Amino acid sequence: MTESIIDEINNLKKEKNAIILAHNYQPKEIQEIADFVGDSLELCIKATQVDDVDIIVFCGVNFMAETAAILNPNKKVLLPDNRANCQMADMVSLDELIETKKQNPGVPVVLYVNSRAETKSEADIVCTSANSGKVVDSLDCDKYIFAPDYNLGTYASKLTGKTPIIVPEDGHCYVHTMFKAEDIEKAREEYPDAKIVVHPECNSDVKELADYVESTGGMVKLAKDPSVKTLIVGTEIDLATRLKRENPDKEFIPLRKDAFCLTMKIITLEKVKAALEEEKYRVVVDTEIADKARVGIERMINLS
Ligand code: 13P
Ligand code: SF4
Repeated sequence: MTESIIDEINNLKKEKNAIILAHNYQPKEIQEIADFVGDSLELCIKATQVDDVDIIVFCGVNFMAETAAILNPNKKVLLPDNRANCQMADMVSLDELIETKKQNPGVPVVLYVNSRAETKSEADIVCTSANSGKVVDSLDCDKYIFAPDYNLGTYASKLTGKTPIIVPEDGHCYVHTMFKAEDIEKAREEYPDAKIVVHPECNSDVKELADYVESTGGMVKLAKDPSVKTLIVGTEIDLATRLKRENPDKEFIPLRKDAFCLTMKIITLEKVKAALEEEKYRVVVDTEIADKARVGIERMINLS
């Protein structure tokens, strides 16, 4: 059954001249059929290198598919389940961002890529968890407006010494804020020889107690380091799936077994097949919004 659906997906991909991009949090079977698996920054960059395909099937959440659509206005970008959203991306409204800009004239806006297209259209530059420090450093200003993740906004400030104005004050990821200092203390006791890595979306006390703070792409690189034998992984649970697949001789232990991003898991092989067959669900970004949002995304990519 599973083998035949994989064959069907591969045949449909050829027939429709399609490519499958998947985020590192996708379930194992989706990671395995994807042409490319990566973090948000790697996926943005990959989405600029797909000239020869007509369809991009994006296995991830809606802001990621929107970013691919903004970068590829002439291609069909499909999200296999149109309920795959990121709660954090919806935490800042366009009105709130515009109001903050009005109150802070001349202060540049850095928008986390985990945001909707219309808010990105108000950004000077976009960042991901892999490059927040580099992006904020590149600004010719000591202050920056940041949305919508409070934890990433303050982390970028720690890296650069610049002052953030963060909107909203409670923007967060429900998965990464599950991790607590006690989880780290418990893991240290249980696995004294292991290293601990956490995502920048975690709370600052958790980041301070960890050995490393990395985006999911940074964790993939760290796992390949010969000095790392056992790694405790403080991010969404399926990142450890990718790490184990690529480093079968090493041990990867999720910092919490309940760190699931539910909307990342609603993509299935059946839905990927249906997406290709019926060319659904097409992600379309209004042209005016896309043209404005593309500026900040391309600025970020050019820094990479
Ligand atoms: P990465 O860019 O590190 O892959 O993170 C994306 C994300 O949604 C984290 O929750
Ligand atoms: Fe959004 Fe959090 Fe899921 Fe990442 S893990 S996609 S930030 S809800």
